[in-house]
Amino acid sequence: MSSKILIIGACGQIGTELTAKLRELHGVDNVIASDINTRNLDLVNAGPFVILDAKNFNAIKDCCINHKIDTVYLMAALLSATGEKYPMEAWDLNMNSLFHVLNLAKTKLIKKIFWPSSIAVFGPTTPRENTPQHTICEPTTVYGITKQVGERWCEYYHDKYNVDVRSIRYPGIISHKAMPGGGTTDYAVEIYHEAIKHGTYESFLSKNTKLPMMFMDDAIKATTDIMQAPTDALSIRSSYNLAAISFTPDAIAESIKAEIPEFTMTYKPDFRQAIADSWPSSIDDTVARKDWNWSHNFDLKKMTSEMLTQLKKKYKP
Ligand SMILES: NC(=O)c1ccc[n+]([C@@H]2O[C@H](COP(=O)([O-])OP(=O)(O)OC[C@H]3O[C@@H](n4cnc5c(N)ncnc54)[C@H](O)[C@@H]3O)[C@@H](O)[C@H]2O)c1
Repeated sequence: MSSKILIIGACGQIGTELTAKLRELHGVDNVIASDINTRNLDLVNAGPFVILDAKNFNAIKDCCINHKIDTVYLMAALLSATGEKYPMEAWDLNMNSLFHVLNLAKTKLIKKIFWPSSIAVFGPTTPRENTPQHTICEPTTVYGITKQVGERWCEYYHDKYNVDVRSIRYPGIISHKAMPGGGTTDYAVEIYHEAIKHGTYESFLSKNTKLPMMFMDDAIKATTDIMQAPTDALSIRSSYNLAAISFTPDAIAESIKAEIPEFTMTYKPDFRQAIADSWPSSIDDTVARKDWNWSHNFDLKKMTSEMLTQLKKKYKP
């Protein structure tokens, strides 16, 4: 029997592409997309869609009952940069939405949950290179604190209440469909749009700030892979480290110059530099590779080529 899926926060950068992939796998009518607003009309019109506030327990519960949902992907969150501007809103949304979904699974109304964590769980005291799965996590952003606490609760609900919740620590995600929603790695998406539109970009992170990143296709593959993995293959019920590529603003600019030689880049670090400086520059994801055979397909060159090809179609058809 096919899964009946609810995606909360489906209009965002990842939700947009996750919805399309899950519909391909499970059928359009078996995947209910939801969000707090209808701003992403392409997504809203592509299949079943409901307005749903991730902070409203009863609304999520009613939606799950009405649509006979067994699996929830909780993608709604306030991200790292926005979270620093609105700390209490970030805490409220990121924590309460998770509790609502975990509690629905505790009462067996739903069977399975996907909830993403982030490299933001790490902090300045974490080993920066090849950050291990189990290590010091002292995040200094509100967003990072919500993800770290969320991870602890996921493991707790799994261990105490047998809740099947699965999670990965996404690095910065790069994509060409929906724009990113206020994170510290957004520069690595904006740069491609600006390269095509204006041939130049001013980076809000400094030239040599190396961060872990991933192309959207790999992030979606990781998400569907972990959700399809056999239960007993999963040894981590907090959140898995996940890695693909690490690069600096300088390196991404060079990869663009290889295709657009006249592209220029300037640097004007803002408050997001301090957030980036507190995060790792590369991640050890051996456990994910071993437990559920995770592997990535896109390196920097292949990603740049795909981003520029797709954005040229959008801006210069
Ligand atoms: N994009 C990345 O680089 C990245 C990296 C690490 C982790 N993540 C995590 O992945 C998840 C999805 O991230 P994203 O980049 O797609 O975020 P996004 O900001 O692009 O999208 C979030 C969506 O949630 C919706 N939303 C906000 N408040 C809501 C509410 N109260 N009820 C329902 N929906 C609401 C927004 O309208 C938006 O469509 C988040 O948990 C985020 O922390 C993302």
